[in-house]
Amino acid sequence: MTRSDSHAPVRRYDGVAQALHWSMAALIVGNFALALYMLEQPPVPSTIELFNLHKSLGLLALALAVLRLLWRATHPAPAIPDDHPAWERKAAAASHHLLYLLIFLQPLSGLALALASEFPTTIFGLFNLPSPTGPNETLKSVAGAVHWWGQWALAGLVALHVAAALRHHFLLRNDILKRMLPGA
Ligand code: HEM
Ligand code: HEM
Repeated sequence: MTRSDSHAPVRRYDGVAQALHWSMAALIVGNFALALYMLEQPPVPSTIELFNLHKSLGLLALALAVLRLLWRATHPAPAIPDDHPAWERKAAAASHHLLYLLIFLQPLSGLALALASEFPTTIFGLFNLPSPTGPNETLKSVAGAVHWWGQWALAGLVALHVAAALRHHFLLRNDILKRMLPGA
């Protein structure tokens, strides 16, 4: 018997799941914008600080992703209501799985890229992450390609995800978005 079988079905995401969802969403979108900005800057010391801020925020997002997955594995999420067509329930489940995959893949590929580069990775100005590989051109280019393609996969999927949430709220006028928002 799974945990969800032993409880009445939940109707909304709990406060912790909501807090993790929205803090991660803000962090990921913010870090995406920061990355695009930092890559446009001239190669001066303050740009290196921006890179380190990007790496630190990305690792914070990774820590939240771990917490989120642990929370999700132990706390049931509300099912998509039966009045939604089967294709939509399948699409929602598939896109949520893919989003989970990408919120791990993006920071992990960034971490591999950073550790394989010749620059130190300084976390919030506090300490340097040790690199088990040292500078490594092959790892750097593979991880760099994953990080580059990952950004577009994540951006595309988040855009679809947001469009779906807004469609439910404004066009279909159901409770899907409200289940992820605080309130009654
Ligand atoms: C929330 C997670 C993350 C997101 C959404 C993200 C997103 C991005 C984006 C959009 C770029 C620009 C890529 C390009 O246009 O070439 C980028 C570059 C970069 N990211 Fe991340 N990243 C994340 C996490 C990380 C982490 C955890 C690290 C390292 C610890 C990292 C290291 C880097 C580095 C070094 C670059 C520069 C690559 C280059 O020089 O071309 N990222 N990231
Ligand atoms: C980087 C940005 C985002 C990521 C990575 C993300 C990821 C996810 C994931 C993985 C889930 C599934 C949760 C679970 O069942 O455990 C989810 C649910 C949800 N997200 Fe997002 N999300 C993001 C931004 C947004 C935004 C901006 C909105 C609203 C405009 C939104 C609305 C929702 C809603 C309404 C649900 C619940 C769907 C349901 O009840 O089945 N998300 N999100």
